[in-house]
Amino acid sequence: MDLLKEALANPVFGAAWTARGWVRTKRDMKSVVFVEVNDGSCMANLQCTFNREAGLPTEIEAELAKAVTGAAVVVEGTLAESPAAGQVCELAAKTIRVIGEAGAGYPLQKKRHSLEFLREMSHLRARTNTFGAVARVRSSLAFAVHAFFKERGFQYVHTPVITASDAEGAGAMFRVSADIAGPDGEKRPFFGRNAYLTVSGQLEAETYAMALSRVYTFGPTFRAENSNTARHLAEFWMIEPEAAFFELRDNMALAEDFIKFLLGTALEECGDDLAFFDKRIRPGLIDTLSAVVSSKFTHIPYTDAVAELGKNAGRFVFKPSWGFDLQSEHETFLTEEVARGPVIVTDYPASIKAFYMKMNDDGKTVRAMDVLVPRLGEIIGGSEREADLEKLEKRMKSLGMDTNAYSWYLDLRRYGSAPHSGFGLGFERLIQYVTGMVNIRDVIPYPRAVGQAAP
Ligand code: 4AD
Ligand code: MG
Repeated sequence: MDLLKEALANPVFGAAWTARGWVRTKRDMKSVVFVEVNDGSCMANLQCTFNREAGLPTEIEAELAKAVTGAAVVVEGTLAESPAAGQVCELAAKTIRVIGEAGAGYPLQKKRHSLEFLREMSHLRARTNTFGAVARVRSSLAFAVHAFFKERGFQYVHTPVITASDAEGAGAMFRVSADIAGPDGEKRPFFGRNAYLTVSGQLEAETYAMALSRVYTFGPTFRAENSNTARHLAEFWMIEPEAAFFELRDNMALAEDFIKFLLGTALEECGDDLAFFDKRIRPGLIDTLSAVVSSKFTHIPYTDAVAELGKNAGRFVFKPSWGFDLQSEHETFLTEEVARGPVIVTDYPASIKAFYMKMNDDGKTVRAMDVLVPRLGEIIGGSEREADLEKLEKRMKSLGMDTNAYSWYLDLRRYGSAPHSGFGLGFERLIQYVTGMVNIRDVIPYPRAVGQAAP
């Protein structure tokens, strides 16, 4: 049972073929009926042509009448060269069976629906060109993530989803709870303490990096931030490599190679889907992605970035000022006007970064790195980690953290500590970047955000 993708890639004209999929459109004319069938394996539909010139059997006419947009069909025929523009191959159809009717109530009747409308239809939207393409790009890049790390000796570690530690020290965590019965039948908290959905697998990945040298995690992460923007989700997927004996410079090189590898894979494997995004969603997309693959990312320390922004302070609503996080208007300026491409900003003030980052000798900045890209801003956040026990404990205490709760994490610095670094790539931000989709809720099958948890 072949998928459409295979038949269309190397069509054997004259060969018998069976199409199984869903009707996208039907054009019913006097002498011919065209049924466009798609099975989601690729962007293209297969045009199934029913020739009526010599008359069609009544059973087939009856099935054709039911073969409306959205119906599931099985069509048998032979592959033939297509006279129509824009397609090489069609199916000279002999029989059709409607195995799942759709009818007039099928919500996706129009050729084009707005993304807002489709956001209310997350269970059906994968049947549209746009969301089918997003799903294929997502799948292709998920495989590419594993291929990239496998080639480079990184081992895949499954870090927990439920955790008692706040990896980012930011407190935006969802609590996880359930009651169980104690010995006297009284209700007890399942974990015996507060537990949460993880905001990052980093801390646990670090423990494995200090044993296996190079590891990565790739899983769902959760943030209970009240941010209703086009680039924040409450549940998103993150890829987090962590490598022992890597310093910031190595980490930056890894991140740059990683992004280029992923964009290169998309260009190679998802040509038709990207061509669609280029035409319908973001003109120039393919040229931009190709240019990034062969570019060199710009590197700029935070302090220099703030100075550069300061020269153009008049253009910003938030005046750039040392010690404050970069606002999205600043990120836009740096990527779109200063670098005209991806930028890696390093050495941020310690006060705006997480507790685990390695302190620089100036005592004010940390070995952080954010990779910013045009139109999205931050796509990667990472750092070299503080490997010195005393310095790390001091920093945690100054932030009011309970060092006892993190004693397992501090053990990495007590026993066989070594320089190590890592980063997190937000998978949905990557998919936004690659597809040109504007809203992050449109690049994950079932978006979870403030006020949205179903279906
Ligand atoms: O910068 P963040 O918070 O870094 C960490 O979590 C580190 N522990 C990573 C590490 O060093 N191992 O998040 C990393 C990336 C961001 O750059 C962004 O791409 C994505 O995760 N991200 C989100 N994506 C969607 N929705 C959100 N609410 C996101 N928050 C972060
Ligand atoms: Mg960040």
